[in-house]
Amino acid sequence: MKIYGQDEFTVLFSRMKILEQVEAIAKRIKTNFSNQSDGRPILLICVLNGAMYFFVELTKMLSDKDILIDTIGLSSYRNGVDSAQIITIVKKLDIDPRGYHVLVVEDIIDTGLTIQFLRNLLVEAGAASVQFCCLLDKRPRRMVQVDIQYVGFVMENDEFVVGYGLDYNGRYRNLPYIAALHPRMYKK
Ligand code: PRP
Repeated sequence: MKIYGQDEFTVLFSRMKILEQVEAIAKRIKTNFSNQSDGRPILLICVLNGAMYFFVELTKMLSDKDILIDTIGLSSYRNGVDSAQIITIVKKLDIDPRGYHVLVVEDIIDTGLTIQFLRNLLVEAGAASVQFCCLLDKRPRRMVQVDIQYVGFVMENDEFVVGYGLDYNGRYRNLPYIAALHPRMYKK
């Protein structure tokens, strides 16, 4: 049964390709794990909502490692006066990150402002280290220099992507693959 019209988007990364990349990232995290952890569990943070699908798949592949998981919810909007991006926390962490090596898991990094905000937040909260992992590193609209330790796919084109957690107006998150939405779907 089709949930969405197949003519609304073009598949960029199949379910199989995504799984391959998640597996490769999980393998690299495991390799680096012992150097980073100081014997303490690493704290993995899922940035709601988009990273949910990636996060669940990734953490299940780390089942032989001692990790803690938590979630954070953010809301961002443009300030009407100076157009600055304002990011606020709408769901706080449950675990105090102080002293933990933290790995933040994102579905997509676009301008980089969200992970810049999270880095500052976690460093100020006393995290021992902060690293970032994203499934999609979308570079054309990057506004700030960011260091991302684990990347699934690099996107050089400024396409609007949906699926596997990513949405357009709340839709398409449950597609099992990642697709580029056709511009006619969002350009009026
Ligand atoms: C997306 C994504 C990142 C952020 C990245 O979240 O999950 O958190 O945008 O963009 P940036 O690099 O330009 O800051 P979104 O605000 O779409 O919310 P969602 O995860 O609930 O879909």
